[in-house]
Amino acid sequence: MELIHCIYCSAATDSDLTKEALDEILEQSRTNNQKSDITGILLFESGAFFQVLEGDRDAIEKAYLKISRDPRHERVTKLISEPIEERAFGEWSMGYPRVTKKELEEISGLNDFFARGNSFMELEEGRAKVLLQAFKQGQWHL
Ligand SMILES: Cc1cc2nc3c(=O)[nH]c(=O)nc-3n(C[C@H](O)[C@H](O)[C@H](O)COP(=O)(O)O)c2cc1C
Repeated sequence: MELIHCIYCSAATDSDLTKEALDEILEQSRTNNQKSDITGILLFESGAFFQVLEGDRDAIEKAYLKISRDPRHERVTKLISEPIEERAFGEWSMGYPRVTKKELEEISGLNDFFARGNSFMELEEGRAKVLLQAFKQGQWHL
């Protein structure tokens, strides 16, 4: 067993995704992830997703392949995939921290990235790590 995390961003095919559509994604994710011992968080803001998947390498690679082919999103872009010592979101089969644009803008270390109109789609590895840290330590991590 090799513990890794895989972090990607994507654009919702329907940028006005309804609450029901989002709930369906979360429900499917939680049911499947529990079976495969995958944990993580999913963020959705301004029509874009940011997801952290943690677990055994084989399970994560399979899940990522399946998720990346899901027609509910497009331009799925892997930002980070690397071994980790321990899980950051071990108690969440798929946490969904409800985050506002304003809260994203206030995360320090991102140099006004979100205030300048960028979305998760414009993230690169460095900023993805800052975002991960903020959610690992921040008010959203229950
Ligand atoms: C943004 C997004 C995130 C998703 N995250 C997960 C996930 O963490 N785990 C998972 O099993 N499926 C996830 N899915 C759903 C999968 O793409 C796929 O529809 C689902 O796993 C199929 O479930 P089934 O094999 O039970 O039919 C996600 C889909 C989207 C659009």
